[in-house]
Amino acid sequence: MELQEAISQRRSVKIFKRDMTIDEDALYDAIKKAADAPNHGHREPWRVIHVAKDRLGNMSKQLTQIAFHDKPKKQEDHYQVVTNLGGMLVLILKEDPHQLEGLEDHLAFGAYVQNLMLLLHEAGIGTCWKTPPYIFDKEVQALFNIQENERLLGFLYLTDLEDKMNYRPRHTENIIEKF
Ligand SMILES: Cc1cc2nc3c(=O)[nH]c(=O)nc-3n(C[C@H](O)[C@H](O)[C@H](O)COP(=O)(O)O)c2cc1C
Repeated sequence: MELQEAISQRRSVKIFKRDMTIDEDALYDAIKKAADAPNHGHREPWRVIHVAKDRLGNMSKQLTQIAFHDKPKKQEDHYQVVTNLGGMLVLILKEDPHQLEGLEDHLAFGAYVQNLMLLLHEAGIGTCWKTPPYIFDKEVQALFNIQENERLLGFLYLTDLEDKMNYRPRHTENIIEKF
């Protein structure tokens, strides 16, 4: 697949209607190849946790018990959605404590995730990066064993590619200015 095609065709898949599985080898290959992302000082400030298909239900129950405590409907909705996925990646930033390096690490992390989403798209795996408010919940962070120098930067839902992608063209008319 051409790079340009992958960039323009990749879209966040938000409909998880089909129960599906994904090829674990293809997934792990993309996770490793995405690490060619630029990162200052070669700190490689990323790691992921793979929640495989057979662990999604268990994870959902533990997560929503914390995030949606006393909200059984939300717990059930989350369970229904995520157990239809082919898996999930927990996205974790290893953040340098210094201001500049920390900023660089955040920026490099975005490059890493874009690489990953493009590589997965090429492998026929659809993705959606999810950043629900509960990523800031200390108990949720503990569930995924997030360390002091780390930040939970969301979840990458893994699914199939929708038949028809919702293509929203970007507004590129005014993004270039001459100095
Ligand atoms: C850092 C980041 C966080 C996101 N968080 C969410 C989210 O919490 N829920 C969601 O449905 N989509 C989320 N998205 C997906 C965006 O909504 C999506 O990228 C945007 O609508 C553009 O669509 P596209 O990815 O199909 O081009 C996130 C994307 C990024 C880059």
